[in-house]
Amino acid sequence: MANGRYTGHQPSTKPTLANIGLHLRTETNAEIDQRKLRWRYRIRISIFIFGVAVTLLVLSAAYDAIRTLANLEQVERVRDQWQRPGEIIQKLNLKEGSVVVDLGSGVGYFTLKLSRVVGKSGKVLPVDIKKFPLRVLRIRAFLERERNVDVILGEPDDPHLPPAGVDAVLVLNTYHELNHPAKILDQLSRSLKPSGHLVIVDRSPSSAHGMGPESEDHAVASVEVETTLRRQGFEVIQRDDHFTEQPGDGLWWIIVARNLP
Ligand SMILES: C[S@@+](CC[C@H](N)C(=O)[O-])C[C@H]1O[C@@H](n2cnc3c(N)ncnc32)[C@H](O)[C@@H]1O
Repeated sequence: MANGRYTGHQPSTKPTLANIGLHLRTETNAEIDQRKLRWRYRIRISIFIFGVAVTLLVLSAAYDAIRTLANLEQVERVRDQWQRPGEIIQKLNLKEGSVVVDLGSGVGYFTLKLSRVVGKSGKVLPVDIKKFPLRVLRIRAFLERERNVDVILGEPDDPHLPPAGVDAVLVLNTYHELNHPAKILDQLSRSLKPSGHLVIVDRSPSSAHGMGPESEDHAVASVEVETTLRRQGFEVIQRDDHFTEQPGDGLWWIIVARNLP
């Protein structure tokens, strides 16, 4: 080619269809290779970014979990100072190897204490109707190597307890939340062994006075509970309306009942 014109003496540069096709194919292959390279690079970058994001998420979740557990322990240490857990445990009449239910366990403030009391040969059955607190409780029991904790997801009117194999039941700060206490007491009576202890601890309504209607909802009168217990066939062996006082939140009562044979 000279001055842009085809001379006819240079066959290798003659723009035949074959030459043009070869040239196009070579370009296309190079482009494909480049595109592949670009994609590989993009995929590697994406995997790296995804990995970093997942790692950050996991680390942040782990940090939150550790902080939550640490806060929980701090709150429970403060609660230990007024809730009188030692006396509550004593009234449950437990020994090594006992099976004890923590009805309305929440995240396990008492479950973990009971687990240590009944030991490896015993069992604690924490029951709650909410999945999240039970999940937290499972993690806590695992971290504290309490292998005798068998979590139960109950229903509002059915704690899903095994029949007649339970030595004692604790209902701490939960009775006031029961929609149909008589139904629950009936199930507890079927699960408790004859003479097994049922200990109920809750906030007194008078202590919630002046703290708004919501606080009233988180309380129940001991006299009302005692009446229901007797009606359901329990023997009430102790009722203390001044069992303990939560600083700034008033009185808590305790009732100890026995399952009649
Ligand atoms: C105020 S919390 C007390 C938790 C724990 N006992 C404590 O003292 O830290 C009450 C718990 O009872 C649970 N609960 C309410 N009704 C229940 C029922 N019918 N059966 C089992 N658990 C119930 C709630 O989900 C909640 O976790």
